[in-house]
Amino acid sequence: MRFMPLTPLLHIAASKEALVQGAADFVAERLVACIGARGCCRLALAGGQTPRSLYQRLAAGTDLPAIDWSKVDFFFSDERCVPPDHADSNHRMARESLFERLPIAPGPVHRIVGEDDPRAAAARYQIELGETPLDLVLLGMGSDGHIASLFPRGRELNEWQARVVVTRNPLVAHRRVTLSLRALAEARAVCFVVTGVDKAALVSQVVAEFGSEQPTVPAAMVRPTSGEVNLFVDPLAAALLAQPLGATTRT
Ligand code: 6PG
Repeated sequence: MRFMPLTPLLHIAASKEALVQGAADFVAERLVACIGARGCCRLALAGGQTPRSLYQRLAAGTDLPAIDWSKVDFFFSDERCVPPDHADSNHRMARESLFERLPIAPGPVHRIVGEDDPRAAAARYQIELGETPLDLVLLGMGSDGHIASLFPRGRELNEWQARVVVTRNPLVAHRRVTLSLRALAEARAVCFVVTGVDKAALVSQVVAEFGSEQPTVPAAMVRPTSGEVNLFVDPLAAALLAQPLGATTRT
């Protein structure tokens, strides 16, 4: 499989707080523009813990463009195969840090039914996702280079028909339902948010691999046909970046 090289837009924040503010500004502006252009916005939320502060900041809304949350169709980049009240549930994290804090009722929330059989949940989610591209996909980055629930050397990295696949985290028991590389490639824009010194070596590798036709880590395989990949990083995660490639903004 050959990938189209791209140059990510690097947003290097001066602090973790500046990262949250910069990413929130970016997401809010993108949502407002998308709703203005198309009447709604299909947004896929990242899981894990990093986005928690970003979601809280977006829900608070202070000093951000006003978002009509009722026009946002919420999707998830991935979900763990657990019930929605489980501590590991990405839906629970989004519910607590975003949905329950919004000033108005959100638009449709397309939950991946983690408590169902994984294949049935994936099939159902793929129907809900449909064939319309996502307007913005938020992603974290695992320290092994995984994104959503696409793990290094996973056979699902070769899946280019399905938009939703079932995977297994090699480190822990429960299975996952995740967007595939095809769904990510069809997205109009992708936004990574990465913090922490433990991700520094990986961020440096991923930025370099975006220029390769044969990347080795899943994070560098995210290649929207629009070519738009935004990478928001805090100083610790940016620590090993050589002279940044391409467009770099410092916030
Ligand atoms: C998940 C996420 C996963 C996450 C990374 C980073 O369900 O776990 O989709 O891809 O974004 O593992 O997680 P942290 O933000 O907790 O470091």
